[in-house]
Amino acid sequence: MTHSAPESRAARALREIFQSGRPLSYIRSSEELRIGRLLAELALPVWTWSLTEGLHLHGQPPVPGTESARGALDFIIAHTHPAIFHLKDFHEPLRDSSEVRRRLRDAESACFDRQKFVVITSPVRAIPEELERSLVFVELRPPDEVELAAFLHDERPEAPLPLVNQFARALKGLTLDEARFALRRALAANPVLSATSLPALLEEKRLLVNRSGVIEFLPTPTNINEIGGLDGLKKWLTDRQKLFELRDEISAEIVPKGVLLMGIPGCGKSLSVKAIASCFGLPLYRIDMNEIFSGRHGKPEVIFAESCRMMEEMAPAVLWFDEIENAVSTQVTGGESGRMFGFFLTWMQEKTRGLFVAATANRIDVLPAELLRKGRFDEVFFVDLPVDDERTEIFRIHLQRRGIPLAGLELEQLTQFTVGWSGAEVEQCVVSAITKARLADREVSNQDLISTAVSIVSLARTMKEQITQIRAWAFERAVRASPPASRASKPMM
Ligand SMILES: Nc1ncnc2c1ncn2[C@@H]1O[C@H](COP(=O)(O)OP(=O)(O)OP(=O)(O)O)[C@@H](O)[C@H]1O
Ligand SMILES: [Mg+2]
Repeated sequence: MTHSAPESRAARALREIFQSGRPLSYIRSSEELRIGRLLAELALPVWTWSLTEGLHLHGQPPVPGTESARGALDFIIAHTHPAIFHLKDFHEPLRDSSEVRRRLRDAESACFDRQKFVVITSPVRAIPEELERSLVFVELRPPDEVELAAFLHDERPEAPLPLVNQFARALKGLTLDEARFALRRALAANPVLSATSLPALLEEKRLLVNRSGVIEFLPTPTNINEIGGLDGLKKWLTDRQKLFELRDEISAEIVPKGVLLMGIPGCGKSLSVKAIASCFGLPLYRIDMNEIFSGRHGKPEVIFAESCRMMEEMAPAVLWFDEIENAVSTQVTGGESGRMFGFFLTWMQEKTRGLFVAATANRIDVLPAELLRKGRFDEVFFVDLPVDDERTEIFRIHLQRRGIPLAGLELEQLTQFTVGWSGAEVEQCVVSAITKARLADREVSNQDLISTAVSIVSLARTMKEQITQIRAWAFERAVRASPPASRASKPMM
């Protein structure tokens, strides 16, 4: 990329260290190639050292005698021209030899004010105590959009710029090595980069992100029209979508931060979260609270915080916390979540503007009041059992999705057999009726739907008391996701 190209976050961080005049730095990262690229942009010759290759300039044989760490440092100290010395995995000789540690401190004064810089890179932070003060420690964050675009441009100079930028956005959150895998997968599917390469790119990203075990990438686009009812929520979302797009131009106060959906199981909370991501045109990630609490990945509160921070690298994106009550309620998980809750509240206030949080909850009675207070989420919606009109719409959506012609079906009639049903139960009824008809080798009839409907015992009937309780609780604390007009036809049980 040319010099007029924008500077990436990582390149800026390195440049600033050098400008500050500190001769020794230690970068923790496993991305050696990437660091090589970044250093090459700094307009100084770059020498590279590794235990197997000695010290050499790009493309040239190693300087004799520099295979040993000590030899390399001697060369650096004696060198009389400005240069960068990139020492890979140098933490090992540093750990093993007091002589090398001593010599590195000599190098500090020999490089000072002479435009000579020593950059140690290692995937682990292992700095001997006596060197703590001499080394600037840097943790390389994942590449930003600028760096990813530069990488893609280098790899595929022929790709049009808008495409490169779109791909760079899609790859955000991956390391450069991972981005390379993703690109390779996309090119394997289609040797010429085009808009059709995006799914392959995203698939690789899904695999890589899911490997963390805690954050999951959900590539399932869901149109907002696939939600039956919930018109209040839908309208709110389309309004917010506009504001979210303007997030860098408008005041932070009105940038949409997130939404909390709570309510009765099977009424479309998860479905709505997927639709939010599609409506906003953003990738959707889910943090799996069960995995966090499993202890498999480390201390839950640490992993939780790390995952939230990692997600900021992925922005713009929608981040879904399913069953948020697990993270924030001490009643569910004991003391641990108290600290997590504190972190979460602060994080919600401070997180980057490009991240929209969608949280869902079932056990709403255990949600702490602070979580619901205005300012944390932009809105708290209560997703109730669908009213008559909404159920009709849900029937229509699920029949149409399965290619059943609606002519001859009297969906309005079905509402009287399905009072108090959830959306999931409506779907189940459609699936059972279709199965029945297919087994009998005929088209689905109204009668199939009705006879299936009367045989289903809805959750609302078996859990009548809990549902009344949930509603009473939500009435005071949340906005109904269905528009107020439909309150008149409140579903009875
Ligand atoms: N309003 C709706 N419109 C269309 N389909 C719906 C609706 N509500 C539920 N469904 C169907 O039921 C399925 C389950 O709903 P969903 O997973 O969104 O429920 P939920 O509210 O997240 O429930 P849970 O509390 O059990 O997680 C959906 O995948 C969808 O097929
Ligand atoms: Mg759900």
